[in-house]
Amino acid sequence: MATSNNHAPANTQTRSRNRLYRWFDRRAGLDALMRESLDEPIPGGARFAYVFGSGLLYVFLSQVITGVFLALYYVPSADHAHTTVAYITKEVTSGSFLRSLHFYGSSAIIVILLLHLMQTFFYGSYKGRRELLWLSGCVLFAMMIGMAFTGYLLPWDQKAYFATAVGTNVVSEVPLIGEWLKRLMRGGTDMGTLTLSRFYVAHVFLIPAVIFAFIAAHIYLFRKAGAVGPISEDAVEPKQPAESFYPRQVIMDMSFALLIIIALGLLAWLKPAELGPRANPADTQFLPRPEWYYLPIFQWLKYWSGSFAIIGILVIPTIIAILFAGLPFIDRGLERRPWKRPIAAGTFTLILFSLVWLGALSHRDDRRDPGVAAQLQKQREETEQFMRAPFEPETASSSLAAANVALADPLAAKGKKIFEAKSCNACHGDGGVGTPAGAKLISIGAKLPPDKLAAVLRQPTEKMTAGGMQSVKLSDEEMKALIAYLNILK
Ligand code: HEC
Repeated sequence: MATSNNHAPANTQTRSRNRLYRWFDRRAGLDALMRESLDEPIPGGARFAYVFGSGLLYVFLSQVITGVFLALYYVPSADHAHTTVAYITKEVTSGSFLRSLHFYGSSAIIVILLLHLMQTFFYGSYKGRRELLWLSGCVLFAMMIGMAFTGYLLPWDQKAYFATAVGTNVVSEVPLIGEWLKRLMRGGTDMGTLTLSRFYVAHVFLIPAVIFAFIAAHIYLFRKAGAVGPISEDAVEPKQPAESFYPRQVIMDMSFALLIIIALGLLAWLKPAELGPRANPADTQFLPRPEWYYLPIFQWLKYWSGSFAIIGILVIPTIIAILFAGLPFIDRGLERRPWKRPIAAGTFTLILFSLVWLGALSHRDDRRDPGVAAQLQKQREETEQFMRAPFEPETASSSLAAANVALADPLAAKGKKIFEAKSCNACHGDGGVGTPAGAKLISIGAKLPPDKLAAVLRQPTEKMTAGGMQSVKLSDEEMKALIAYLNILK
């Protein structure tokens, strides 16, 4: 390698750069590494059909980079998550654009993943000692689905909260360990800061760590088995003349990456990702709808209830998952042309069509029911209204400051506990800041003297009962504490 430099350097600058390069090459083996990665032989030559794998790698890296920028501002707690995402969306320079890139990037990964999967499947590229390659791909597939699920909760707006409530509820249908699994995911029986922090840790540490490891394994196993080539090629001993990965396949891969950049950039610019109003757990009307790629599963779950639920939720998906992961062990023939293996190709196509069909049915159901359509329309309007409103920073009167003041007075501190134990905060918000379901209680002490306050709590007005507030039944001692707490809310 050291003797490969047979041209005399044109000037001292190139000579010094070459010396630097040689210094590194001798220690790190750069030349060998370059050749190893670029000289990969592709039987039958470069093709656009092979670009999806590197496309996935590209979008994943884009997710990592945009994700790091989002993490600079994001705070994973029920108190602050929504405000910080609103800040990114409304205040941070290019924040909305970056968040949109990350948002559409997740959809792009699913789309390209499906294309990659279809290409691999119909080309029979899992054949010929490629079982481990296929299995590592299955793990990556599952991890991407996990990334989409965990990322969805993080903005802590209405749809994030209620979609995740549905998603984690489904888990509790699993026999024996269902309830335990649900509590494990939520960090308790309800969803709150512990849920957010678990989802956050999974989304930015645990799952990405697994993904990095399996991307390395996937690429290693791919290189080990070699590119499989066109469907007419032998999967074990390729016979067709091979073309090196560099330059034509590299150029095709890069053109695809460029296409992705343009598509994501245009989407993010023309239709920025939205953020809805902050999650309100007390809202009983909200209809959660998942992101498009979860719609088929969402629709599927509708058909399974009662004692049969277990079949639809666990048995059938498990069978499909096992068949899917076990494909290269089941379909062992070396025939790669899809029309020569009609059962495999037929089943796969049928499943794909069923998923599209289920997604379409979900849309149809929502349009058909006027009550549902009206509620969904209302939710869209609320989101648009929130997006138009200027950014509202957290102020001193918001939860944290109010909570700290309460701790100074033992009677009020006891009252705060009662306020939370009686779920007053579900409607009136933590620290009584108010939510759409209940008026703000800040400065209530100035409005109602203690005896009036006690009376109205024991016997709520019509307006209060109409809003779902029930008569507060407490001992005199406890009522005094509660009122002491309400009085310090300022
Ligand atoms: C299901 C939701 C809900 C819960 C739970 C709830 N409230 Fe209310 N509360 C309301 C509604 C709705 C009103 C009427 C709001 C209005 O006047 O706009 C109200 C009114 C009040 C008022 C009078 C406010 C005013 O400005 O006149 C007080 C005081 C109050 N609530 C205290 C409490 C306390 C203390 C608790 C817990 C024991 C509690 N609320 C639990 C919904 C709720």
